[in-house]
Amino acid sequence: MRTWECCCSVFSIRMSNEADDGLIAHAVSAREQALAPYSKFKVGAALLTADGRVFTGCNIESASYGLTLCAERVALVKALSEGARKFKSIAVVTSAPTLTAPCGACRQLLWEYCGDIAVVLNSPGAGQKVISLADLFPDPFDAES
Ligand code: THU
Repeated sequence: MRTWECCCSVFSIRMSNEADDGLIAHAVSAREQALAPYSKFKVGAALLTADGRVFTGCNIESASYGLTLCAERVALVKALSEGARKFKSIAVVTSAPTLTAPCGACRQLLWEYCGDIAVVLNSPGAGQKVISLADLFPDPFDAES
């Protein structure tokens, strides 16, 4: 999968498909459980495994702000702790006016455990876009390399 950048945005070359739409629906539901009393910024994520299972997550904030867990990492650790090891894509949903891509820490962990999956970003006010993790996270740290 290839994407390219210009001065204002990153464009996807893959069109959204039905699987993406299903994953978005899971992420929308997961977002309803978000615990974001400090930022008020609710995020839902849904991670699709190679064998068709879906693991969801939402952001969970702490009064000790740095302990906050992002939705993507919650979905990932749920999946890993249930034994899932091969992944196809992750959906990330907010209600922000612009699409929200995973933070740097989430990109690192997603790269380590999922490799170059498709990242489907969605917000009702900003539309939908599919980006490859490799394009979101170029020149990653890899302990083996
Ligand atoms: N957040 C996520 O859950 N995922 C992202 O991709 C970006 C940020 C959360 C962390 C925090 O609870 C809130 O959004 C504001 O940063």
